[in-house]
Amino acid sequence: MNNKSSVRVGIVGVGNIGSAHASAIAEGKIPSLTLTALCDNDEKRADELRRSYPSIPVFENAEKLFASGKVDAVVIATPHYAHPPLAIRAFSYGLHVLTEKPAGVYCGAVREMVDAAKQSGKLFAIMFNQRTNKLFQAAKDLMESGALGEMKRNVWIITNWYRKQAYYDSGAWRASWRGEGGGVLMNQAPHNLDLWQWICGMPCEIYADCGVGRFHEIEVEDEATIFARYPNGATGTFITSTGDYPGTNRLEITGTLGKLVIENKALTFYRLPISERNYCLTAEGTPKLQPEAVVIEDESYQGHHRVLEQFGRAILYGEPLVATGEEGLRELTICNAAYLSAWQNRTVSLPLDDGEYLSELQKKIDGGKAIGKARSTDQSSTEYHPRWNTNW
Ligand SMILES: NC(=O)c1ccc[n+]([C@@H]2O[C@H](COP(=O)([O-])OP(=O)(O)OC[C@H]3O[C@@H](n4cnc5c(N)ncnc54)[C@H](O)[C@@H]3O)[C@@H](O)[C@H]2O)c1
Repeated sequence: MNNKSSVRVGIVGVGNIGSAHASAIAEGKIPSLTLTALCDNDEKRADELRRSYPSIPVFENAEKLFASGKVDAVVIATPHYAHPPLAIRAFSYGLHVLTEKPAGVYCGAVREMVDAAKQSGKLFAIMFNQRTNKLFQAAKDLMESGALGEMKRNVWIITNWYRKQAYYDSGAWRASWRGEGGGVLMNQAPHNLDLWQWICGMPCEIYADCGVGRFHEIEVEDEATIFARYPNGATGTFITSTGDYPGTNRLEITGTLGKLVIENKALTFYRLPISERNYCLTAEGTPKLQPEAVVIEDESYQGHHRVLEQFGRAILYGEPLVATGEEGLRELTICNAAYLSAWQNRTVSLPLDDGEYLSELQKKIDGGKAIGKARSTDQSSTEYHPRWNTNW
């Protein structure tokens, strides 16, 4: 560490989001972190970084950065497949790791990543920036405190991840089984899949339908509908798409003590004075339940900065992370189970069979396209992009 109140951090993979993290840290917006190294394995990009950050060493491969002695922690912001192998190498050098989402593409690799973190004793964090949104935190509190009673059902329609064809064409790795390992469930919806399990818990069964290349020229899905069953018999439905405009972001959870709805930057809790179950079984006449609406308004926030700052503070002062890397495994389990279900048209019980998933994924990779060149530079801006925020 260079001083007691700041951790020396390096960034591996400095494209769209890595650039946003780099500039936030370099501009002093993340007091707990100091940017001391950068790495991108694209030569042209590395040269651009040398020009933009003349005082910061830029390495052409991650191994050199890890071995440089210039960092105590790294942020990994490469395409997803590389997250586990890079994190495992970083842990072997005794570095703390914050990985971008998703933790990886298949659970087997992420399990190895989690084991490597445990063996190293270093911190392992993941960029689930939407967890810092106070509406989702409030929903989690209502569920955990028992205020909503026992969950009966949830429905999340999160279709405002709109992407144009140029987005998919902007990176050769995007939207192929070989380069990315999935579509909207692997790239955009991990934030929501994580919040879904964080707030509602892990389902025990998954059934899914994926619309492959329905709205774009891509070989992976650009829409998906997941049906989940929970251990208590509750059900959940999760609908996402990158092809709807305008889209919707609406989460509704019904419990025995009421209902909560998050939509349009507000959480409304319809609180029942008694359990609907008691009313149903004991009351006479017409229901006279008077739900009380409690509205919590969202406020503007910068989730990525909070995750970065908290990563530094966890290293410095032992404060909690926004999300541990291990939690990336739960999100990816739902994602992988949804793919397996859609490919085999069957209900998948959890826990998932990692080996079966990997061999099915391999078939998709073998039958898919080779990684060529990016067809567009439409998304090449390194500015912070509002599409990374929670949209309503
Ligand atoms: N949390 C969020 O809101 C958010 C937003 C955007 C992207 N992401 C995630 O960040 C990751 C990167 O996405 P992006 O849009 O920035 O991609 P990108 O293609 O713009 O950038 C990736 C960069 O990594 C470099 N790279 C690839 N492999 C490397 C390696 N082995 N070593 C060093 N550099 C390497 C590439 O040259 C490129 O510059 C993805 O996993 C994505 O899901 C998260």
